[in-house]
Amino acid sequence: MMYLSLFLFVITVYSLISTNATYVVNRYDDIECNLKPELIKEIASYKNVTRTIMDEIISNGYGRTMYKQYSDFIDTFGARPSGSITLEKSIDHMINLTIENGLNDVTTEEVEVPHWVRGLESVVMLSPRQKNIAVIGLGTSVSTPPDGITAEIIVISSFKELENTDDKYIKGKIVLFDAHYVTYGDTVIYRSQGASKASKKGAVASLIRSITPFSIYSPHTGAQFYEANVTKIPTAAITLEDADLLRRLQDDGEKIIINIKMFSTYDQKKSRNTIVDLKGKEQPEKLVIVSGHIDSWDVGQGAMDDGGGMIISWFTPVILNLLQLKPRRTIRAILWTSEEPGLIGAAAYLNKHIHELSNINFIMESDEGTFSPRGLDVAGSKIARCIVGEVLKLFSPIDEMTNSGGPGSDITLFVNKGIPGASLLNKNERYFWFHHSEGDTMNVQNMADVVDCAAFWAAVSYVIADISVDIPR
Ligand SMILES: *[C@@H]1O[C@H](CO)[C@@H](O)[C@H](O)[C@H]1NC(C)=O
Ligand SMILES: *[C@@H]1O[C@H](CO)[C@@H](O)[C@H](O)[C@H]1NC(C)=O
Ligand SMILES: *[C@@H]1O[C@H](CO)[C@@H](O)[C@H](O)[C@H]1NC(C)=O
Ligand SMILES: [Zn+2]
Repeated sequence: MMYLSLFLFVITVYSLISTNATYVVNRYDDIECNLKPELIKEIASYKNVTRTIMDEIISNGYGRTMYKQYSDFIDTFGARPSGSITLEKSIDHMINLTIENGLNDVTTEEVEVPHWVRGLESVVMLSPRQKNIAVIGLGTSVSTPPDGITAEIIVISSFKELENTDDKYIKGKIVLFDAHYVTYGDTVIYRSQGASKASKKGAVASLIRSITPFSIYSPHTGAQFYEANVTKIPTAAITLEDADLLRRLQDDGEKIIINIKMFSTYDQKKSRNTIVDLKGKEQPEKLVIVSGHIDSWDVGQGAMDDGGGMIISWFTPVILNLLQLKPRRTIRAILWTSEEPGLIGAAAYLNKHIHELSNINFIMESDEGTFSPRGLDVAGSKIARCIVGEVLKLFSPIDEMTNSGGPGSDITLFVNKGIPGASLLNKNERYFWFHHSEGDTMNVQNMADVVDCAAFWAAVSYVIADISVDIPR
């Protein structure tokens, strides 16, 4: 009985949105779509309202005000590491700001989060000559003994090379993973897994070449994870410049000896996911989620990662409320806590709401920059991408659609459960130049670009939350 009605329901929904006529939607994602002409017409009818939303934000001052709220937020709080008092104060600030902007439907959900605090860190090359090496510890790294660890360095290019190197060449040494940046996804494994892999071969500490394609002598931090039962060895990142130097010295047959000192503390603290709702006027139980994370690394200011994504997502229900545009479904902004140590806030939300995931119609995240907007990276069934592709046509030239399979950071947990979702495509070619380093400041941001992102983000969410059809799984 249940299966039959579900089957009929699926047929009904499908016949509302598709026909046999096919055409290709969108730039980049060359899927053939066969949406019903009525649905295409309905989506096209949103042109006026999307133009209104974007004009209000871009030309009528709302965007400028948001940008001031954003830069004040970054200047007031700076870095907001997981478990810190600063992060909690910044959450309180965003709650207050929501209410001051006329939206009272703001709640928080408590989450237990990691609280890793960096202490003094130093690396000094002792041989073949004395040189200070800029260093930044990786999150959750253990400390060295008080005098540090003094050992020979071995420079390794890849996990494959590590595997093929006899343990006796690794034992007692410090492994430097000198993997050159290809894409973030390809290269970040050296940061997240390097210490465990080196430890298993008997290394006493590990270093990585920072995960970035570009450097002005900037070390870049990030999360790393010790596998169960491996000896936890200290682990840190150095600059591209020093990784290249150490590589050349090794190639020239020099014996490189360094001293590494790293100190940190690690415990758990309470934090909160922040939820801002603009309740839907017809189907309030159905959610279109827009999100970014409010925590950051402890270096830089977390302006780019992810202050920008957090602010445009927060602004979406706030501006629609100010413009008195209530969509059919609820627009829920979530400011995830503790993304950086490993999607801790998102995992807690998923766990808490596991029995109501069917209410999530669509989930969006901006966590890869708020540079000039280009479109959306969309995960979901073909029909879901066809509908979102049709919506994107309203925003030409911001109408690119890609299908990487894993948009966003926090939202991957939801997308992996089959919930359709999208992340903001933007001109972020320089994102990883600044990511997780002291360079992540307001100077990276451009007001016009952030405002354009905010306008696109609010308007596209509005259409998805208001159209007559759900985004099918
Ligand atoms: C365009 O949208 C605005 C705001 O939603 C509305 O006030 C106006 O009546 C619309 N105009 C047309 C021609 O639909
Ligand atoms: C938020 O508002 C409350 C109540 O007005 C106030 O006590 C608190 O200091 C504010 N917090 C921040 C961080 O602005
Ligand atoms: C770790 O060691 C414990 C105790 O020896 C064992 O029960 C567990 O299976 C090990 N875990 C892994 C992932 O090897
Ligand atoms: Zn981020």
